[in-house]
Formats: sequence, structure tokens, C-alpha cells
Amino acid sequence: MPQTLANDRLLRALRRQPVDRTPVWLMRQAGRYLPEYRATRARAGSFLAMAKNPELACEVTLQPLRRFPLDAAILFSDILTVPDAMGLGLYFAEGEGPKFERPIRDEADVARLAVPDMETELGYVMDAVRVIRRELDGSVPLIGFSGSPWTLACYMVEGGGSDNYSKIKAMAFNRPELLHRLLGVVTESVIAYLAAQRAAGAQALQVFDTWGGVLSPTLYREFSLPYLQRIARELERGEGEDRTPLILFGKGNAPYLEVLAATGTDAVGVDWLVDLAEAARRTGGKVALQGNLDPATLYGSPEAIASEAARVLDSYAEGNGGSREGHVFNLGHGMSPDMSPEHVAALVEAVHRHSAR
Ligand code: CP3
Repeated sequence: MPQTLANDRLLRALRRQPVDRTPVWLMRQAGRYLPEYRATRARAGSFLAMAKNPELACEVTLQPLRRFPLDAAILFSDILTVPDAMGLGLYFAEGEGPKFERPIRDEADVARLAVPDMETELGYVMDAVRVIRRELDGSVPLIGFSGSPWTLACYMVEGGGSDNYSKIKAMAFNRPELLHRLLGVVTESVIAYLAAQRAAGAQALQVFDTWGGVLSPTLYREFSLPYLQRIARELERGEGEDRTPLILFGKGNAPYLEVLAATGTDAVGVDWLVDLAEAARRTGGKVALQGNLDPATLYGSPEAIASEAARVLDSYAEGNGGSREGHVFNLGHGMSPDMSPEHVAALVEAVHRHSAR
């Protein structure tokens, strides 16, 4: 039975139903910009130790909600838990970001991959979802997430972050069938992962196609889009008021808004390089839209933040026939560690004030 939520603005907006004010949450709302996050991380010893401990993952998930009247919680975890569970050996080299001990290089590496067991190999994620749901106690919905197949494959083939995606793009040109085989097993894992988070209690689901925008249109349509379409089509998510909405977020996805809206997803998340009025016109009410304040706006003054937030809200309404329905306010990408909590408070307050019906 779906639990009645004290604050269901996010779910209503994702269903394009009327709300009293536009819901807001922020990608990377839990993180190093909060002193209490840094304290919990120091106690845990590392980011991964924290993410793999359901009680600590719950603690840092709730930290931003104690400070700001956000309309959703997002599971504290990482997109790279899935390739880690597929045997690649995730680690974080100090100051260098995520890396894999055993990246995917050839045929044999791809052949060894299998869909991980969600309740054992990724049981710590499902336990975190259950603990967070219990602690949220019906206050706001919990968003679960996964990386997109393309974005996960980037890390799996490059072995970590990359400036030019040389290895995976070489694979796309030289061994397209091998890359499709890799993307196929990753897609099955992503669908199983999202379904397991939903079964554990996640009330909305977001796919991060963070690196889709590094592809030419031809490669995007071959290596990212078809797998997003498959997720939107195959992921079982219920009907009506019981439906668990799916948000497809993509950095650099502006050229593909029409085709993304036609995938069957419930919502599309966009970065700040597209005008929301244009995005709303081009998607024509088929989906909800999430976004899209430039995260760097948080380096501006509280007054600048408020006026930019108002501009984003009004831009959406302008493209949506004058209505704010179907908009979830967010940044166009994640927060950074050097952002100020006071400015986040100013942003959340401004969104709620300016969008109050
Ligand atoms: O939004 C949230 O608050 C939920 C938590 C979340 C994290 N990672 C926590 C995290 C989410 C949704 C992610 C997703 C993620 N992880 C993405 C896609 C999101 C996007 O921004 O498009 C990507 C590309 C990753 C891979 C990854 N993990 C990177 C590039 C890094 C950063 C390394 C660094 O030093 O900044 C991580 C680590 C990570 N994941 C941190 C957090 C809070 C920082 C860890 C720390 O405390 O040092």
C-alpha cells in the first residue's frame, strides 16, 4: 500500500497535477558543502564506507532536509555501485574521483559480466532505501536513482573519469557490437536495480545520463538513446496514483527533448543550457520537466539567486501555456562542495515564495 505523504508535491508535479507551490530538490543536495556531512564522512572514514552503511547513508540523506524545506529526499549512494557489484572494484583515489581496479577492455571482460543480485550484492543499497523510508516517516518522497547505461559504460571502459572518452569512443568506432553487448547487460542491471529500489520503497526514480552530451547526434542515437528508451519501456512502475514516476535526466540533452518525451518516461530533467520555455513548448505537456537553474547561480548573492529562480519558474510557465503545472524545480546539474548552505536556504525559500499559487 502506498503510504500517504504529508508532502506529495513532487509526485503530483511529476504526474502534472496541480500543486500549491512548485516542488524543489537539488541534485547532490547531500554532500561536502554541509559541515555535518563532512563530520559523518570523517567518522565513517571514507565516502564508500558511508555509502555502504545503511544507517550512515540514511543520516546524510536526511541532513539537507533538516536544514531546508526541500520537497524530496534522494537516496545517498552513487551510480557506480552497479559496476562495482558487477565485479569491477570501485575505489576512490584521494583527490582523483572514482576509479575501477578492473576496467572493461575486451571481449572476455564483457563476457564475464552478469546482472548482480540486488538483495545480496547490492543489498546495502536496498537496506538504505528501507531505513530512509522508515526515518522519513511519510514526510516527503524518497527518490532512488541509477546511472544511464551509456554513463555507466563510460566509467567502466575508461576506468574512471575522463576528459576525452578516448577508450569508449574508440570502442564505439572499432567494436560497436562489443559496446552494444556491454550496454545490453548494463541496461538489464539498471532495470533490475531501479525495480529493486522501487520494491524497497523508492517513490520516484531518476536516471542520470550525465555523459550523453559528449556524443555526436549519430552516436547518441546509437549508444545512449535506445537504452534510455528500453528503461522507460521495460521498467515496471505501476499505474495512476500508485505509479512510481521515472525522470530521465541528461546533461546536454537539449537536442533530444522531443524524442526523450516520446520514450514513455514520466519526466525529463534538463541542464541549464536550454531555455525552459523552449523545452516546455517542445515537449508539449507530454512529460513533466525538471530543472534547470545554472548551479553556479548559488555563487551569486541571495538577491541574484532569488531573481534567477523566479526567471526559471516563469520561463517554464511561459512555455507551458501560463501554467506552473508539471514543473519540478532543480539545478541543471549537481551542487559543488564550495557552495554556501545559506545560499541554498535562500534558493529554496525563493522557489516556494515565487511559485505559491
Ligand atoms: O544527489 C544526491 O545528493 C545523491 C547522491 C549522489 C552521489 N553521487 C553522491 C556522491 C548521486 C545521485 C550521485 C551520482 C553520480 N555519481 C553521478 C551522476 C550524477 C551527476 O552529477 O550527473 C556520477 C557521474 C557519479 C560518479 C562520481 N561519484 C563522481 C564523479 C564523484 C565525485 C568525486 C569527487 O571527489 O567529487 C563521486 C563521489 C560522490 N558521490 C560524492 C558524493 C556526495 C563525493 C564523495 C565525497 O564525499 O568525497
